[in-house]
Amino acid sequence: MRVGLVPTMGALHAAHLSLVRRAKRDGCFTVLSIYVNPAQFGPSEDFARYPRPIEKDLGLCEQEGVDLVFNPGTETMYTEGHCSWVTVEKITDGLCGAMRPGHFRGVATVVTKLFTIVLPDRAYFGRKDFQQLRVIERMTADLNLPVEVVGCPTLRDPDGIAMSSRNAYLGPEDRKRAAVIPSVLSQVASRWEAGVRTPEELMSGLRERLAAATDRIEYFGLYRPDTLEEIGVQTRLSFNPLVALAVRVGTTRLIDNLQPGIDPAPPASPPSRDM
Ligand code: PAJ
Repeated sequence: MRVGLVPTMGALHAAHLSLVRRAKRDGCFTVLSIYVNPAQFGPSEDFARYPRPIEKDLGLCEQEGVDLVFNPGTETMYTEGHCSWVTVEKITDGLCGAMRPGHFRGVATVVTKLFTIVLPDRAYFGRKDFQQLRVIERMTADLNLPVEVVGCPTLRDPDGIAMSSRNAYLGPEDRKRAAVIPSVLSQVASRWEAGVRTPEELMSGLRERLAAATDRIEYFGLYRPDTLEEIGVQTRLSFNPLVALAVRVGTTRLIDNLQPGIDPAPPASPPSRDM
């Protein structure tokens, strides 16, 4: 029987469980790992306050029929004197990699270790963290790791906001403001659908909308889906670009992305001030 690994940091929600369902549907003996990996958090990030509802998580795993939960302690994952790291270059230069130095080194290292401990045939990752998915794909190919990496669709709440453990930090007002995120992505999707193929027209007016409803834009742009390089001004797109963003709403950092023509458009959010 094939082994399918679903790596997580816990605080499980329906999107994590969709990865489990996919692994089970593929007929895998399904292993879910829960480990809040200190190496992928910056010194001023939310490592200490990251939610850790382990009992609830274990209950959800049982309900979903996860075959094995791997919940190691830091003494297992980073033994004393640990000084080996996995670094993936180039595709980590932009987007979250530019904003969170060392983040993808932490992710690539912990995922490599999960692969070598669990020895899965397949590993499941969400497209919600698109750059992470690309980094893992690149690393797996470059290091000849015998694991098939499976990218899975982004799951959204009814207001269109992508599910995330960090959404728990949002108060009701911030949650309403965050609905601008699926709304701008949706707009890119409908422009693409209508035949718009120039970066300027696809993105026109959207940065302003995003800026008006959020507290800070870390990045918002169109990127090549393979290399994640930003797409410059060019006349006409001959491939499906990736529109990706990271913003702050209050103190919460939110990321989202969409590949028009490939990912379904987020549900239309209810009208709000920023429309
Ligand atoms: P975590 O944020 O817990 O996410 C675990 C997996 O769930 C990732 O593959 C992520 O892309 C996926 N996921 C989260 N929200 C999703 C959504 N709304 N739709 C689809 N998939 C979603 O990502 C990590 O943990 C860590 O970086 C990890 C890979 C475990 C390494 O520490």
